[in-house]
Amino acid sequence: MKIAIITGASSGLGAEYVEAVKNRFNDTIDEYWLIARREERLKEVARKNGINARIFPLDLTDKNSISAIKQALTDSNAEVKLLINNSGFGKLGYFEDIGALDNMAMSDLNVTAVNGITSVVIPSMKKGSFILNVCSIASFAPNPRMTVYCSTKAYILSFTKSLRYELKRKGINVCAACPGPMDTEFLPVAGIGDGSSKTFDTLPRVNPKTMAIKSLKAADKGKCVYTARLFYKFYRILAKILPHNLIMPMSKT
Ligand SMILES: NC(=O)c1ccc[n+]([C@@H]2O[C@H](COP(=O)([O-])OP(=O)(O)OC[C@H]3O[C@@H](n4cnc5c(N)ncnc54)[C@H](OP(=O)(O)O)[C@@H]3O)[C@@H](O)[C@H]2O)c1
Repeated sequence: MKIAIITGASSGLGAEYVEAVKNRFNDTIDEYWLIARREERLKEVARKNGINARIFPLDLTDKNSISAIKQALTDSNAEVKLLINNSGFGKLGYFEDIGALDNMAMSDLNVTAVNGITSVVIPSMKKGSFILNVCSIASFAPNPRMTVYCSTKAYILSFTKSLRYELKRKGINVCAACPGPMDTEFLPVAGIGDGSSKTFDTLPRVNPKTMAIKSLKAADKGKCVYTARLFYKFYRILAKILPHNLIMPMSKT
């Protein structure tokens, strides 16, 4: 049985990935494993897409959730065609104002859970499969007032490149999807809106549907990084060549 695992499938980009995977791989995926905390929303996404889905209502910051996925893989003997590590959140504000719990929760979900789930899934992957890690343009250079968030995404970019190198020998690709701002629940969860950030108010938006389709294609074609929109592709180059001290007055949120 071939499966696709998508985390954070209950809303936003994750829900778009479910549709994009269905449209691209319809014939080859026997079951979709959809993971997030909100069970009803996951069921709704599965219903809407008419797919054979297994719903995992899990909080990925809980280590028992990673054990549950590992056990499900062992019990089903499934082959994982693709893993999309999409669950994630950020908080806007100065580091000391955000507070310890949210600062820790960001690295628990955006970093530690990705380490965990990727570790338990790789043994079930074969040549031709891939991992798509949802990163961000926040990974290209530090973003003051989103210090922990941008650092978790910089980790994901580095993790993707290094793991991709390691897994080449197995024929498994690893790709980072780097969206710019998208109008999803991410923004209210982060506390972004109503003029809370001039940067976010002025930055061009990325369409989540287009992002899902194009980044999925890039991962399947063996690419390492996908960035949407010319504006952000240019920013990625700038962030590579300019000292980050020069970039930060611009990238501050
Ligand atoms: N929107 C943007 O501007 C933007 C820009 C760059 C990168 N991104 C990245 O894109 C990815 C998707 O975000 P989005 O924009 O689609 O926002 P979203 O609609 O808020 O989606 C976040 C997803 O993560 C899940 N999630 C949150 N906490 C979780 C937990 N503890 N355990 C399991 N799942 C959890 C949520 O589901 P439940 O609440 O049901 O658990 C939801 O499905 C994230 O990694 C984000 O960092 C977003």
